[in-house]
Amino acid sequence: MNNFDFFNPVRIIFGKDTIAQLPELLPRDTKIMMTYGGGSIKKNGVYDQTIKALEGFDFIEFGGIEPNPHYETCMKAVEIIKRENTGFLLSVGGGSVLDGTKFIAAAAKWEKGDPWDIPAKKLPLKSAIPLGCIITLPATGSEMNCNSVVSRESTHEKFDFHDPAVYPKFSIIDPECTYSLPERQTINGIIDSFIHVVEQYMTYDVNTPIQDRFSESILRTLIEEGPKVLENPFDYESRANIFWSTSMALNGLISAGAVQDWCTHMIGHELTAAYGLDHARTLACVMPSVWRYKFEDKKQKLAQYARRVWGLNCDCDDFAAKQAIILTEEFFHAVKMPTKLAAFGIDAKEAAAEVMRRFEAQGRLFGEHQDIDAAAAFKIVENA
Ligand code: NZQ
Ligand code: ZN
Repeated sequence: MNNFDFFNPVRIIFGKDTIAQLPELLPRDTKIMMTYGGGSIKKNGVYDQTIKALEGFDFIEFGGIEPNPHYETCMKAVEIIKRENTGFLLSVGGGSVLDGTKFIAAAAKWEKGDPWDIPAKKLPLKSAIPLGCIITLPATGSEMNCNSVVSRESTHEKFDFHDPAVYPKFSIIDPECTYSLPERQTINGIIDSFIHVVEQYMTYDVNTPIQDRFSESILRTLIEEGPKVLENPFDYESRANIFWSTSMALNGLISAGAVQDWCTHMIGHELTAAYGLDHARTLACVMPSVWRYKFEDKKQKLAQYARRVWGLNCDCDDFAAKQAIILTEEFFHAVKMPTKLAAFGIDAKEAAAEVMRRFEAQGRLFGEHQDIDAAAAFKIVENA
């Protein structure tokens, strides 16, 4: 096992009717900014529950944070925060609202020029405005991590940053808030979190049996519960199990001491930036292609996954690993997620050239062996 530094300071309040606990979690000695997205919270009752819980607090609202939150929108919130002297942020919505809020929290305290440098140049933060969240979409794990992904509308760029200063102080997870999700977002969440796990698992063995089995249990849970919520969106138990899976998938637990890949995500971010394709949809198309491209490097883990997650009874690693890819694609299709860019009207060859150009411009390397460069990304996307 590799050395690691494991830290997760997020307080989780999980379950039915938990928004009512907000007053015990929020500060009373400062002005609060409540951030939200395009209005889903006004249709499903989350807005009303939040406003009720905020009674007696000094707060302002900032709505309109888009999916794949825009830097430009976030900077408008920063202006208001500075003017209004706001000391706490409450994000109410999905991963995009929360990521946007993390960026706002960081940008409002940034003194070294354009805050876009935070994600673009991965500059460390000195501080950020403290924040908490009510998370309404199980997918990103943003409620339990210090990551944020921000898009710049004017340049069609999408970059992530990670900084302990933007960990939420608390995250309220009420699975009932997810009953209102459009099916497309429910599917996106299952796939995004599934792929978060494999980015931290499908690499090579460094003797991490605990982390491997945590990962396998999350994957198994998503495989079992995913189809149930598509069948019955009001199945509280499945909604709850899926939400907890997505939080566990990207909170540092399974990556501690393990080897990580993340090239599917980095390629996916470029596809979203270039084509506006949903984050999870990019991943579903890219990941099987990554597995085929890096088949020999990942074979041992693929075979382990086939046996432990899919119950395959077979001694031959090569066969088991190949089956692992097929079974995974079949699962994605069973939860109505296509695995080819063509299904979304995107020409894979053209997309490959676009991603290669972007990777070349950034000059960064990804993958567990740091060997996914622009040329490798081209080959992966070409077959996606
Ligand atoms: O904007 P509103 O009106 O709220 O509607 C949203 C949005 O249209 C809607 N929605 C959210 N909760 C709902 C709901 N509709 C009905 N009922 C609810 N309970 O769903 C749509 C999508 O929301 P969004 O927040 O964009 O989805 P998600 O949570 O999947 O976040 C995606 C973003 O997170 C980034 C992605 O790149 C993308 O920008 N990621 C963040 C990560 C992190 N912070 O750790 C890791 C991920 O890998 C990912 O990159
Ligand atoms: Zn993701």
